[in-house]
Amino acid sequence: MARQELLRSVFDQSLPRRSASQRKLRSEAMSRHLISNVSQDRVKINARDRVFVLTGAGISAESGLKTFRDGNGLWAGYRVETVATPEGWDANPELVWQFYSERRRESQASHPNAAHYALAELEDKIGDHLFLCTQNVDDLHERGGSRNMVHMHGELFKSRCEADCGAPVIEDRNGYRSLCEIPLCACGARLRPHIVWFGEIPLQMARIQHEIDCCSILLVVGTSGAVHPAASFVHWANMRAASPARTYYVGPEKPLNANAFTQIILGKAGEKLPGLFNLL
Ligand code: APR
Ligand code: ZN
Repeated sequence: MARQELLRSVFDQSLPRRSASQRKLRSEAMSRHLISNVSQDRVKINARDRVFVLTGAGISAESGLKTFRDGNGLWAGYRVETVATPEGWDANPELVWQFYSERRRESQASHPNAAHYALAELEDKIGDHLFLCTQNVDDLHERGGSRNMVHMHGELFKSRCEADCGAPVIEDRNGYRSLCEIPLCACGARLRPHIVWFGEIPLQMARIQHEIDCCSILLVVGTSGAVHPAASFVHWANMRAASPARTYYVGPEKPLNANAFTQIILGKAGEKLPGLFNLL
């Protein structure tokens, strides 16, 4: 795998068990959408299938979180280079923390939607035959009940040493507005958001590559296909000479890599995912 394809990094996480209140919220959110989905194409899944799901910002859109590429190159009013690159961090860590502190606030105030719940429900049914890889840094998949998953672009509610001194990644839900509020690692360096910025290497790529190699169905939801390596996953699944995967995209508009998919299912994730899976 070329290094450029990997550029952009990963983590180890343990996921919470699903609670009774999560189950109730999930079933309410899903039942609101099932009726509108009766006539759509369905993804057939048999007992031998292995399903790889890649999600992007679009799956959290119906939870009220903005996607990235709908603001003229600005993310919530910030230039990407200033808040999502190592150079931006070096130049102005205060601004970077203000940006991610706002994202933490917004994410804490949001809730999983029917699409997050639909994926958790599928995992309930097929267990470790489902692997979920998200580019999102919010925790809506976990709060929806997903467990077998990775955040290839890091996690909003974690922080780590900017100097990579070997100190562990920590859970962190705080907001930092000024330079003097930014906590220091034991080594004396600053703590930075546990986010994979442009120019950094996505997380857990070996595991992701393995799961793509093993899958028979690849489902991509709500990502514009603009950022690699995630945008290449569909090509990796297609390139396997012996057994190319069946590949599906779900979102309201075609992604940049639309031609690589077996099927494009146009519509909002929260309306299309519940009822999409036909377990044989
Ligand atoms: N359901 C499904 N998809 C949706 C919805 C919805 N309700 N609303 C919007 N979308 C789609 C848009 O059509 C678009 O294709 O979500 C996609 C969002 O695209 P981007 O904003 O480019 O986000 P994403 O592809 O996740 O970005 C990838 O780039 O900026 C970096 O690290 C960041 O992880 C991010 C990566
Ligand atoms: Zn350190």
